[in-house]
Amino acid sequence: MSHTAPTPRAELDGIPAYVPKPPKPPAEGPSYRLFLNENPYPPLPSVLAAITEAAAQTNHYPNIFPDRLTDALARRLDVPPEHLTTGPGSVGIYQQIGQAMLKPGDEVVYAWPSFEAYPIVVRMAGAVPVEVPLADGVHDLDAMAAAITPRTSAVFLCEPNNPTGTAVGAAELKRFLDRVPSDVLVVLDEAYYEFYRSPDAPDGVALHHDRPNLLALRTFSKAYGLAGLRVGYGVARPALAQALRKCAVPCGVSRVAEEAALASLRAEHELFERVDRIVAERERLRTALTAQGWAVPPSETNFLWVSAGAGSEALAGELERGGLLVRAFPGDGLRVTVGSSEANDLLIAAVGRLTPGR
Ligand SMILES: Cc1ncc(COP(=O)(O)O)c(C=O)c1O
Repeated sequence: MSHTAPTPRAELDGIPAYVPKPPKPPAEGPSYRLFLNENPYPPLPSVLAAITEAAAQTNHYPNIFPDRLTDALARRLDVPPEHLTTGPGSVGIYQQIGQAMLKPGDEVVYAWPSFEAYPIVVRMAGAVPVEVPLADGVHDLDAMAAAITPRTSAVFLCEPNNPTGTAVGAAELKRFLDRVPSDVLVVLDEAYYEFYRSPDAPDGVALHHDRPNLLALRTFSKAYGLAGLRVGYGVARPALAQALRKCAVPCGVSRVAEEAALASLRAEHELFERVDRIVAERERLRTALTAQGWAVPPSETNFLWVSAGAGSEALAGELERGGLLVRAFPGDGLRVTVGSSEANDLLIAAVGRLTPGR
């Protein structure tokens, strides 16, 4: 009998582990999950009721596509249903992008640091990542435009950016989109759209109408608090949306997830009051951390970036011991999700105690 084993594709060797090792909660006392940009609020009673009712039908497959959700989103966004694709989270749609739009050897331009899924999606397709460093923590759109070559098939643009929370705004974004060749796909990742309060916030759904190379990505994970159920969607012109739908995992959005998303759309008013509270807490947290002497850029998301440089890991470790589980980017900074006001109070106090020179 031969002892050889099946060999995975060589491209997988270059793929970094995506899911970071979760910080360890302390053995005693409460802990707060501030490392995945989750919503601190549990599901609304009306959403939980929809989840419970749908869960009773778990012996049945869901539809191949979540058609009722697609129709509800189409009405909500005022786009035809053919402009939509859905998936198990926006990461599910990134898999559709990889399969439908990227070929081995293609170049994909994106900023770095940005959403950690990007190098994985690109390498998985056998495509080549072209990472353009942020300039002062913000997308360097001139450098990104200059990085586009005849081999570029896509640009991934996270607006506002994860992990820095920073944004470029609609005017700059439109100037950039005008410079991208029409045969290059632009994925505008708007995972934090609902937290974006600048008057110059772009709206990818509005922008897609006259840009056949634009795909706007949104999710129910953040503002709608459904991270655990995995529902995301993309909006694009029909040809692009159809190509993506062809690559969707059949039944990839469960009945429970679809019903929860539908109930969340019905309860949007209540959910967006929560988003307002998170935005107010974001500003309170930023003001406090800045007053302590930390460099914290303005954020348009539900998290803040603390430029702690070489001390980032040590600071995250200390916070972790106090039950505040944040994400360290070694040598660079900390990404801290805006949590409940209780968690934010504890964070302000703990970071204040750990501030050098205090
Ligand atoms: C920029 C960005 N895009 C997409 C996602 C993934 O969202 P989903 O839960 O919809 O897969 C995240 C999650 O953190 C994110 O930060």
